Amino acid sequence: MDPRPIGVFDSGIGGLSAVRALRRLLPEEPILYLGDTARMPYGCRPAGEIDAFTGQITAWLLRRGVKALIAACGTISCNAPSLQRLPVPCFDVVSAAAEAAARRSVCGRIGLAATEATVRSGRFARAITRQTGQPVVNAACPLLAPMIEQGVTSEDPRLTAAVAEYCRPFLEHRVDTVVLGCTHYPLIAGAFAAVLGPSVTLIDCAAETAAAAAAALGQAHLLSAEGSPVGEFWFTAAPPPAALQTAARLLGQDIGSRLSLLPLA
Ligand code: DGL
Repeated sequence: MDPRPIGVFDSGIGGLSAVRALRRLLPEEPILYLGDTARMPYGCRPAGEIDAFTGQITAWLLRRGVKALIAACGTISCNAPSLQRLPVPCFDVVSAAAEAAARRSVCGRIGLAATEATVRSGRFARAITRQTGQPVVNAACPLLAPMIEQGVTSEDPRLTAAVAEYCRPFLEHRVDTVVLGCTHYPLIAGAFAAVLGPSVTLIDCAAETAAAAAAALGQAHLLSAEGSPVGEFWFTAAPPPAALQTAARLLGQDIGSRLSLLPLA
């Protein structure tokens, strides 16, 4: 039994989709969340910068005594080699999501919706291809994470138009599975489902990763077995009120009162 918190981080509020999944699986676990809202979006940045920011985030979380880390961000997962050199177990969103997609796909034609930096790295697509032996249909979706970060929802016509445009290659290539390879996208899964229809399976990379982390930490006897979990939510800039509403809908909890600001940059 280990009462130390699990550190979960992202460029913004997207990683809260991993917190939602962790809470369902491990209701006893304390979670320390950090979203780098001041420097979001990461998806348009070069890999070296993403890795440098990631180093600052993980150093802070480690100083706060986390027992494990979840890089709840596809962009960080694919562009931060420093994640390989951490002194505690660290889970990125690539392998669990790639395995889940290959398991669920019947025809092996899989699409990847992600940020520009994730698509450019090729890491997510390679992980899927290793499982299926087939090329992946990539769609970089640069507008989505910034819109979600502003609190734009699945019902907003600007967002549904962008999703429809980004999903065109998936429909053209008749994929049967799409990996939501950015942790912001599970927050607008309804918009993807509306465009792609019921025959396409959506893979939530944050939920898959939370499940893999929960299993691995359980096997390593690193879970906290008792007590009521205290969640701490840190951001490098205050999220807009509409984004906090999105977060409250997602978590079933208003995080406004538990929110702290960290001047990281
Ligand atoms: N949630 C991040 C990801 O999974 C967001 C992207 C961004 O900051 O551009 O890739």
